[in-house]
Order: sequence, then C-alpha cells, then structure tokens
Amino acid sequence: MRLLTTFVRAYPGRSVAAFAALLAGALAEGVGLSALLPLLTLAVGDGAAAAAQGGPGGAVVAALAPLGLGGRPWALLLLIVATIAVKSGLLLLANRQVGYTVARVATDLRLAVIRALLAARWEYYAGQPVGAAANTIATEATRASGAYLHGMAAIALLVQSLIYVAVALLVSWQLALVAFGAGLVFSSLMSRLVRASRRAGARQTALLRSLLSRLADLLQAVKPLKAMAREETGGALLEEEAVRLDRALRREVFSKEALRALQDSAFMLLTVVGLYMALAWWRLPLPTMTVLAILLARILGQLGKVQREYQVMATCESAYWALRRTLDEAERAREIPLGHAAPTLARAIRVEDVGFAYETGWVLRDACLEIPAGRWTTIVGPSGAGKTTLVDLVTALLRPQAGEIRIDDVPLVDIDRRAWRRMIGYVPQETLLLSDTILVNVTLGEPGVSPSDAETALRAAGAWEFVAALPRRMDTAVGERGARLSGGQRQRLAIARALVHRPALLILDEATSALDAESEAGICVSLQALRGTVTILAVTHRPALVQAADRVYRVDEGRVTLVEQREPGTALLA
Ligand SMILES: Nc1ncnc2c1ncn2[C@@H]1O[C@H](COP(=O)(O)OP(=O)(O)OP(=O)(O)O)[C@@H](O)[C@H]1O
Ligand SMILES: [Mg+2]
Repeated sequence: MRLLTTFVRAYPGRSVAAFAALLAGALAEGVGLSALLPLLTLAVGDGAAAAAQGGPGGAVVAALAPLGLGGRPWALLLLIVATIAVKSGLLLLANRQVGYTVARVATDLRLAVIRALLAARWEYYAGQPVGAAANTIATEATRASGAYLHGMAAIALLVQSLIYVAVALLVSWQLALVAFGAGLVFSSLMSRLVRASRRAGARQTALLRSLLSRLADLLQAVKPLKAMAREETGGALLEEEAVRLDRALRREVFSKEALRALQDSAFMLLTVVGLYMALAWWRLPLPTMTVLAILLARILGQLGKVQREYQVMATCESAYWALRRTLDEAERAREIPLGHAAPTLARAIRVEDVGFAYETGWVLRDACLEIPAGRWTTIVGPSGAGKTTLVDLVTALLRPQAGEIRIDDVPLVDIDRRAWRRMIGYVPQETLLLSDTILVNVTLGEPGVSPSDAETALRAAGAWEFVAALPRRMDTAVGERGARLSGGQRQRLAIARALVHRPALLILDEATSALDAESEAGICVSLQALRGTVTILAVTHRPALVQAADRVYRVDEGRVTLVEQREPGTALLA
C-alpha cells in the first residue's frame, strides 16, 4: 500500500483523474444494475409491484416517471444498455490514463536513475557493478511501473465492488453484508498466498540483479577466461542463479494459480450458500433473487480480482524498492559543486602537503609538487605507489583529506570543478573505448568537434596512418569496447580523444604502455610541439616520457620527491 501512496503522491493529477473516471464508470454501472430489478419485476408481469418498488429499483422507476417512462420495459432496457456504454467509455478513459501513467512512471524512474548515476562522485562507481545498473534501468523500472499498473487495477476493482455492495445493500442489506464480510474473511485467509508471491518477487529482484551483475562481469573478462578454459567456472555460477530464479518464478506461478483456484471454489460455495439463505430464510421474490445473484457473483468476483491484482503488485513491488535504493544511494553520492571561480592555467598547478587515504589506508602523505604551466611534468614510481591517485586529485575526482591543490594559486575547492575538467585532456591507464566508430570515439559525439579536428588529433596521436588504411577510415566501428583494434591502436585513439578538445592540461596515465618505442617517440615529438600552450602531466615507467619531461617526480611509499628538473628547452628528445 505504501508503494501506491508513493505513486499517487508522485502523480496526483493523473491518479485522481483515473480514479474519478473509474468512480463515475462504476456509478453508471450501479444505476444500470438498479434498473435491472424493476425490469425483471415487469418481466414476470408484476407491473404494480414494479411501480411500488422501493430501493434502488424504485428510485430508477421514480426518476423515469416524470418523462412518462416509469413502467416501460424498453426504457429500462435502454437505460441499462446506456449505462453499460457509459461505463465502458469511462473505463477506457481511466485505463488509458493509467496506461499512460505506467509508461511515464517507467520513463521517469529510468531518467532519474540515469541522471543520478551520471551525477555521482567518482568513488561511487568503484562499488557499482555495471550489470546491476543495466538491470535497474531495464528490468526494475519495468517491474516497478507494472506494480503501479496492478495497484491501480486493484483500486479500480475495489471501487467497483464497493458500488456493487452499495446497490446490494439497498436491495437486501443482510445478504450484502454477509457476502461482503464472507468475501473479506476468505480474502484474508488467502493472504498467505499473497505473502508468498511477495517473497517470490523479492527473490526474483535480488536474483535478477545478481545474475546481470555477474553476466556483465563475466563478459567483460571473457577473454582470459576463455584463453584459460575457465569460462565454465564462471558460467556455473550464472547457471546456478538462473536455476534459483526459475524456482522463484515457479513459486510465483504456484501462488498465483493457487489463489485463483481457491477463490473460484470458495466464491462458488459462498454464492450458493448466499442464494440458499435468500430463498430459504428471507424468502425474497424471484426478481430480487436474480438481481442479488448477479450482484453477489459480481461482488465476490471483483473482490477476487482485487486480491489477484494486489498479488501481482506485491510480486513487482520489491523491484521498485530496489530501484529506489539504487537511486537514493546514487543521489547521496552526488558530486556537489563547491567553488565557482573560473579556472585559468597560466602559472602552475601546485600540490601542497596533500594527504589522501582510501578506506583501506593512507596512500599519499605530505605530497608536494609543482606542475608548471606549458611544461611537461612526468611522475614515476612503483606500482601501487599512488600515481593514479595523485592524478585523480588533480582532476578533482578525489578530494584530499589534508593539504590543498592550487591552480594558479586558487584553491581547487574554490574552482568550478566542471569548468576545470573541461580544460583537461585525460588518457586513463586502462583504455576505454565506446562500441562505436573511430570518429565518435575521438569526438565523443560533441557537436562542436568536426571530423577535420578529429583527423588533426589522430595525426598528433600517431594514429592517422592506421586509420587512413582502414576501408571506412574514421567511420570504422571499433567493436565492443574497441575489441577489433590492437592494444596500441586503442591507446592512440584514446590520446587523440584527449587532444581533440585542445586541452590546457593533458594528462597521460601510462598512455603509451602498449606502444613500440618508435610509435612512442613519434607521439613524444608531436606532444613536445604543444609545449608552451599545453601543460603535460605524464605518469609512466617508460624512459621516453621521462626523457621528454622538464620535471620528473617520483612517488614512493606515500612521498613525492623531485628527481629531475631541466631548464626549458633542454629536455632530451626521445
Ligand atoms: N578505489 C580504491 N579504493 C581503495 N584503494 C584503492 C582504490 N584505488 C586505488 N587504491 C589503492 O591505492 C594505492 C595506490 O593506487 P594507484 O592506482 O594510485 O597506484 P599507481 O601508482 O597508479 O599504480 P600503478 O603503477 O600500478 O598504476 C594502491 O595500493 C591501491 O590498491
Ligand atoms: Mg596507476
């Protein structure tokens, strides 16, 4: 129920409109059903009784009387047909409204998750399985909107059954109360089956999430797994989860079908008992009996449907809460803009007494270094020393726990972080390409970047030669995450991507690790030509990038030391 109130609060206009249409439709049907009683009374030839009838039937006859149609069977018949038509029309309106809202709910949830995921801090992604995010946007959003659909259906049916109860109350209140009460008692007896469905749904939500996380993980690492013939080990886990998912689905099916079967027999029994009571105890006339039989069957049928819809909603509900958790977590991890100063890079980036720790412990302590603008600075140091961490601090993806980073003497925390990052060309340690063309991988689809800009960048990155030799050149698709290119070709595309926006600061984190000495030397020469306009920060173990630098720092055991400083223009060409 909490889910429904959440949805109704999120979409008040649409929900109220749908509810109003449903209510009006149900009322129209109530009038039609009330007209049934005088019609049947007339049919058994008791005109006087029809005219003198009280209750809802009498009210209908009285309403028609001023038009001179009070006791006319055809008028009553017409009224019944008209109310059914009105009810169907209103139902169509309401269902359309609910259908549109369901689509809206799914879309809104998806957009909210996508926006929150993209706006999160960099650290947040370290704990996020890619498959789980895909599952949230695809499966969970669909199931969550399904929960709204079935919840609304349950409400609609409940409203209808309440109208039937109202009509029945007017015809014979004793029988109506007995029917409604018995329906509720039976429904609560069967609520165990609804709970079973809810549990099966929750299990499905958890299993789907884990299955998709594992699958995405496995597919990303499939090459070494296949090369070592270990894919089945990973696959076995997936299969096990698929089987458990199957069990959860079966449990859901069983609860659903068991509910339907039990309802059918229970309600049949109730109808028969009710009719017997009406005939034997209260000795109601046949027309009243017939109308009551119809009403009784309807009330019980509707109550059964309410419960079945509620059951489906309960099955889907966990998907909404799982999605909500993802959304809340991502929103809590939102990167909050701190500073607003416009960044410049005319003098230097200074890292002053910076200390940084991950949850696992300190990585950098009292780190001091200066990266002069327009010059080339290289950082070396053993694996795991904290070089990439240092770069992440400069790009403001991470924030130091101690000390400060200043860009042209302005503390980085006071600077508009996104504006600062827009000045950066970054080549990460792991080359990550999009499954798209070379052109899109270089321009990242940004409208202001032309194919000729991309070509210039590809030339500077030493990639033009191989791109020009491809039949479709820059329009060649690179395959899933660049799988159709060699490691070195991927790296050169990544360098071109960093250069295409003409960055003020170019960061290369092991960006040439997959290149041969000759290609690397070629890139160093192109990059050295950028000296003066571009500040270069390279992390490397490779001699060429050390020799090309004006300054070399070493990161080791959390400390940063200056190991080499050359006067401008005296750096060795690789
Ligand atoms: N997200 C993280 N959470 C916890 N610890 C991390 C995280 N990222 C890195 N570390 C740890 O911080 C230390 C420094 O990592 P970093 O990536 O900066 O090293 P590096 O000098 O770039 O190494 P390499 O030369 O191998 O790339 C390592 O011990 C690493 O295990
Ligand atoms: Mg690194």
